Amino acid sequence: MTDRELIEKAFLAREKSYCPYSGFSVGACLLSKSGKYYLGCNIENGSFTPTVCAERTALFSAIANGDREFDKIAVVGGKGEETVFATPCGVCRQALSEFCQPDMPIIVAKSVDEYKIYTMGELLTHAFFLK
Ligand code: THU
Repeated sequence: MTDRELIEKAFLAREKSYCPYSGFSVGACLLSKSGKYYLGCNIENGSFTPTVCAERTALFSAIANGDREFDKIAVVGGKGEETVFATPCGVCRQALSEFCQPDMPIIVAKSVDEYKIYTMGELLTHAFFLK
């Protein structure tokens, strides 16, 4: 799948976002090495703490469906129609680092034409591993 297609799918995932408290909707598309892809959106909660980010929704969906090896992920987000470069939060970086290699591309997009590509290792140096 091309970077452009992955970003398009992240935008589709963003449409499912449940964000009545922040108004900041995020979508993610995680591509596995097996060629399957997993969509995720942020899901907020009135109690705030249970809120989960789009990246972790996509990651946990993949893991729950038996995929553990990944090629790349695209993330898009912003308030309303607006988009910003919504780089994964610290918690998501740690969660992704459990399964994603340091050289895995993390695409952060404002549109299909305007995006930045980071690597897992760039976004989280010296990650914590228990094994
Ligand atoms: N959010 C994500 O979905 N991904 C991130 O990496 C950062 C933040 C969500 C959580 C919350 O619903 C909203 O964006 C505002 O923080």
